[in-house]
Amino acid sequence: MIINKLKKKAGWAALEYIQPGNVVGVGSGSTAAYFIDALSSVKNYIKGAVSSSEMSSCKLKNLDVPLLDLNEVDVLDIYIDGADEINSKKYMIKGKGAALTREKIIASAAKKFICIVDSSKIVSVLGGVPLPIEVIPMARTIVSKRIMDLGGIPKYRKNIITENGNILLDVYNLTIFNALSLEEEINNIPGVVTVGLFARRAADIAIISGHQGIKVIE
Ligand code: 5RP
Repeated sequence: MIINKLKKKAGWAALEYIQPGNVVGVGSGSTAAYFIDALSSVKNYIKGAVSSSEMSSCKLKNLDVPLLDLNEVDVLDIYIDGADEINSKKYMIKGKGAALTREKIIASAAKKFICIVDSSKIVSVLGGVPLPIEVIPMARTIVSKRIMDLGGIPKYRKNIITENGNILLDVYNLTIFNALSLEEEINNIPGVVTVGLFARRAADIAIISGHQGIKVIE
């Protein structure tokens, strides 16, 4: 319950970064959902929102925030999203909510990426939570073997098909000291669609909501 209050504060704190006329990328998950509530309070001043999941699209529609297709957008001013873990370099693990591929696409297109988290998500070394990987279904076993070669323990996330028609592996037992090279290595395994390591496109700003208030890391 307290965590939800912190998430809500982080979501609303991101509103400060939204400018009139902006195209706003919107992430997925419970913290992003609080940001959508905040965004709806300025819906008449922004150009619209690009959404990373059906869940976020549904909430945006219910709150009458104009939805835009990424293909129709020239400039994506800003992307706001949560994370499962974030370190001091603003590298993140994302994808617990299964929306990692669309999140990574929108993050890569955005001029600015603001990560909104409660303070429980801050880590010194990434890997305390499983690392999600979206995989083409026929490559599940071959990708799992390659992940085991890297020292990870992959677990198939049963009964989940992503919005892109793929499966997810959650990788345990990783202590991620070199996120940049691990992201590249996993991305290069045939059959991998997206790895939920966001280091090559890290956040530009982290808004961290803790018991002492909001802290911003630029
Ligand atoms: C979804 C994500 C979310 O941003 C991440 O799981 C954090 O979720 P929450 O804000 O509910 O803690 O990456 O794919």
